[in-house]
Amino acid sequence: MHIGLLGGTGPAGRALAARMASLGYPVTLGSRSRYRAMEIRDTIVSRWPDHHLEVEASDNEGAASAEVVVIATPWDGAAETALSVKDALAGKVVISMANALARVGGEFQPLVPPRGSVAASVQAAVPEALVAAAMHHLPAKELGAIDQPIDSDVLICSDHLRATEVTTDIVRAIPGLRALDAGHLSNATPIEAFTAVLLQLNVRYKTRVAVKLTGIAEHDAPTGQVGAAAGSSSNGGFPAAAEADVPVLDEV
Ligand SMILES: NC(=O)c1ccc[n+]([C@@H]2O[C@H](COP(=O)([O-])OP(=O)(O)OC[C@H]3O[C@@H](n4cnc5c(N)ncnc54)[C@H](OP(=O)(O)O)[C@@H]3O)[C@@H](O)[C@H]2O)c1
Repeated sequence: MHIGLLGGTGPAGRALAARMASLGYPVTLGSRSRYRAMEIRDTIVSRWPDHHLEVEASDNEGAASAEVVVIATPWDGAAETALSVKDALAGKVVISMANALARVGGEFQPLVPPRGSVAASVQAAVPEALVAAAMHHLPAKELGAIDQPIDSDVLICSDHLRATEVTTDIVRAIPGLRALDAGHLSNATPIEAFTAVLLQLNVRYKTRVAVKLTGIAEHDAPTGQVGAAAGSSSNGGFPAAAEADVPVLDEV
């Protein structure tokens, strides 16, 4: 399945591009500037010389021609960017991972975008697309560390069954992640807003937290399998919190 990334040149987009390419998904990295996309593509490929990552560089229009499209722009550019490639998105699964947040002093505050969430704004801008909201809480650093699993749940919501299913498949392909169906797109409002809480915890505890919910049986929601490349340390290859180098404020 070919994945396109709108705004794929930022930390989140380039991390997801590297991760999905490492799992065998062809990826097209989109940008407002094709040259910037080429530069970032080269950075990704040269960081992982042994992985032969299949990442193509393009503009956002090129990325929107992929089978599944992820929006990885800042929140205030998400709906507008989707609208700019509206025709290409019709009938496709479009995953919004954007969070509407403001940093006020040392505090992260959730904002309420038009229609209650970034994902709902995107769905309104491209009504013929099948929008899902997902991956808001995955830190770019862990997402981009393609030789390590990620120990986290991913909350997915959508008004389209197919969008939930396709997004679930993509999330489950990533070792260590558990995809959870969190219902309709209206739940994107609390999911996106909750990111502010996670960022605050990162600052308070000098780490990068991940979301893990209890009480759901493994057979109902299996976790992405950890492959041979996942490492063999005693904690299953996950970096210990104390080893995580910095609580970067602009990373979840
Ligand atoms: N960083 C994380 O750890 C993380 C984790 C989970 C979710 N997220 C969410 O994912 C989204 C992307 O995060 P990020 O940290 O990668 O963001 P970012 O670096 O601020 O932006 C990503 C890319 O979006 C493009 N862009 C910037 N402003 C734009 C605008 N007004 N309209 C259209 N495109 C614009 C830029 O690419 P070009 O200049 O090349 O077009 C930029 O490289 C955010 O909404 C964030 O909340 C981030």
